[in-house]
Amino acid sequence: MNVLEVSGLSIRDKKKDELLVKDSSFLVGKGTCLAIAGESGSGKSLSCRALMRLNPSGVCVTGTILYKGEDITAISKEAMRKKRGKDIYMIMQNGMTAFDPSSVIGVHLKQAAAQHMGWSAAETERTLHRALESVLLKNPGEVMNQYPHQLSGGMLQRVMIALALVLEPELIIADEPTTALDAITQDEVINELSRLRERIGCSMIFVSHDLGLVRKIADELLVMKDGEIVERGTAETVFCSPKQEYTRLLLSARQVLSDHFMNIMEVR
Ligand SMILES: Nc1ncnc2c1ncn2[C@@H]1O[C@H](COP(=O)(O)OP(=O)(O)O)[C@@H](O)[C@H]1O
Ligand SMILES: [Mg+2]
Repeated sequence: MNVLEVSGLSIRDKKKDELLVKDSSFLVGKGTCLAIAGESGSGKSLSCRALMRLNPSGVCVTGTILYKGEDITAISKEAMRKKRGKDIYMIMQNGMTAFDPSSVIGVHLKQAAAQHMGWSAAETERTLHRALESVLLKNPGEVMNQYPHQLSGGMLQRVMIALALVLEPELIIADEPTTALDAITQDEVINELSRLRERIGCSMIFVSHDLGLVRKIADELLVMKDGEIVERGTAETVFCSPKQEYTRLLLSARQVLSDHFMNIMEVR
């Protein structure tokens, strides 16, 4: 069964009358991870936001998005709001846009938990603390008492990931979820997400330009360029025998970087 079936998704800039995402169609199978790669500006974040119906005001979105068979482009705003969180959860690329700047982080987390999980205050507090610790935020009490602007981009990313661990959603959309993290923290956080997938069998859309990470966790892979899907297939097929010149370029750019790193670290 597919958790998500997207067909003919197009996103247009109303002012410039320019197509930013062109007739995009893809599926996410239950329990699988679909990765979306592609250079900056290729339409990855706009596509993800469209799946949450969190579109920026200047764009017009068309196409159908079936979540478990229901077209979520056609349901009421209220019904869509209820789906966000426990059904479809998004880890935003920019944490600052995900949190209300006027409340401390703890308020946001507790509200989200109260809305979706029927826990007592003590249980909520305990679960949130545990989740924050598991993404290496060592002082959960302190983090909960801070305003979003007091935390770094990497800390906000980890808070969003911690909330995913707490809510255990059906579908996680992770838009470059670890870009602001150092390599060691990134590994640990990605492992937490993988463990969550194993535990609850959730599906995932994982956006990243880090092809090493993509290879580690994706079952299927889409490559986007200028708003279009230019390559798709199982992650293994795309990595081993890319059809498009553009994908070969992306893969070779990664290889050059990796060789360069190995050389300067003198590990070869
Ligand atoms: N709110 C917006 N209004 C108009 N154009 C936008 C908006 N947000 C993004 N874009 C444009 O759409 C294109 C795709 O953006 P985005 O989805 O953020 O790319 P990616 O996530 O792949 O880096 C870019 O050319 C960007 O400038
Ligand atoms: Mg983006």
